[in-house]
Amino acid sequence: MGKLIIDGGNRIGGEVRVGGAKNSVLPILAATVLNGGINVVHDIPKLLDVDIMEKILTALGCSVKRENGTIVVDSKDLTEHEIPEELVRQMRSSIIFLGAMLSRFGKVKVSYPGGCEIGPRPIDLHLKSLREMGAKIEEKHGFLNCEATKLRGCDIQLDFPSVGATENIMLAGVFAEGTTIIRNAAREPEIIDLENFLNAMGARVSGAGTATIRVEGVEKLYDVEHNIIPDRIVASTYLVATAITKGEIVLKNVIHEHLQSILYKLRESGCIIQTYNHSLKLIAPKKIKAIESIRTLPYPGYPTDMQAQMMTLMTLSDGITIITENIFENRYKHANELVRMGANIKVDGRIAVVKGVPKLSGATVMAHDLRGGAALILAGLAAEGSTIIENIKHIERGYENIDGILSLLGAKIKKM
Ligand code: EPZ
Repeated sequence: MGKLIIDGGNRIGGEVRVGGAKNSVLPILAATVLNGGINVVHDIPKLLDVDIMEKILTALGCSVKRENGTIVVDSKDLTEHEIPEELVRQMRSSIIFLGAMLSRFGKVKVSYPGGCEIGPRPIDLHLKSLREMGAKIEEKHGFLNCEATKLRGCDIQLDFPSVGATENIMLAGVFAEGTTIIRNAAREPEIIDLENFLNAMGARVSGAGTATIRVEGVEKLYDVEHNIIPDRIVASTYLVATAITKGEIVLKNVIHEHLQSILYKLRESGCIIQTYNHSLKLIAPKKIKAIESIRTLPYPGYPTDMQAQMMTLMTLSDGITIITENIFENRYKHANELVRMGANIKVDGRIAVVKGVPKLSGATVMAHDLRGGAALILAGLAAEGSTIIENIKHIERGYENIDGILSLLGAKIKKM
């Protein structure tokens, strides 16, 4: 796995355009199997996870062309129903094909997605909901064999507003008999983007962004063209990179609404933030103020995908921060790596207590997961001396050309 070397102490400054959201692209690429037609999707980031989705679509029989941030998927000749096991192993979110393939093909075989670096990642809510809609799902030898002659719409109450389960049910509902209601649905912006994509195909989905989503089954779906929403987590990561290096940045192609919980915390840490139509400017303070408490919650609460990055910022604050990770069971692996760089962090279960220190020192550290790895880059940007980050493949799953972009913004960073 590749490495990054960062010589810390350089301010991040300049302007960067935020690309399409990974967590919107993945369910939308799964949805391209639904219409048996041509799907043109713009603002596709160059990410390992997108490469894997492309391989899965090709393995299922779709033809896929990708050029300069646009992907064209022709799902007319869908011939296979088995998601290749080695691809599921590389990307657990391939489970998102369950709903789409049951809708289009009535059959799908996928290996049970294991846990990952941030926790066991159960899929019980996905399976319970799809069974309620009439899917027969057999779990054998580590595989899920799923079949459904005709899915039927029903009234589903999610125990937890799971993003993936909400998406799978939406995708399962588009051709179902009758109407599917999803209660306690996830409200993330990526769910709204999926609703917009499906409706542009001719589906009848409403309520995305609220806790209750309705999907009315239709007979057919048509060719579609769509632009992916900007990646709110990538945008927020660059804002923290600027804050931790006392810099100044302008982000282009942002939807402020999606960033509110992060902007609120960054203002609390002393950053000045000016918002314009589709862009925003952040000016960092001389000294980061401690944010008393950060609790991760489902959207519109503070996102778990920004917990590690904000923890890094707080390692250099003027006080104490208490972080509570409410979404995933094991999402503090970056803490030990930050401690190796001189941070003062105590982790106890879902709670992490961060006490600001005057400085971080460069060290050799290991990325254990996508957002934890990004957090180590932020620490390296601010640390005195050089930092070597190993296992950067995790980071490349969710950040397009992050070393190239940070170099353009003033960082001394290079890939080995
Ligand atoms: C999506 O994962 C995102 N991934 C994650 O982003 C994000 O952290 C997460 O939503 C929460 O916002 C994609 O969209 C590809 P969940 P997902 O189902 O759908 C429990 C990143 O860094 N749960 O909302 O897997 C689960 O264990 C990634 O970009 C069940 O118990 O998240 C977790 O504790 C990381 N049973 C919680 O719900 C289920 O059937 C949230 O999971 C499903 C989930």
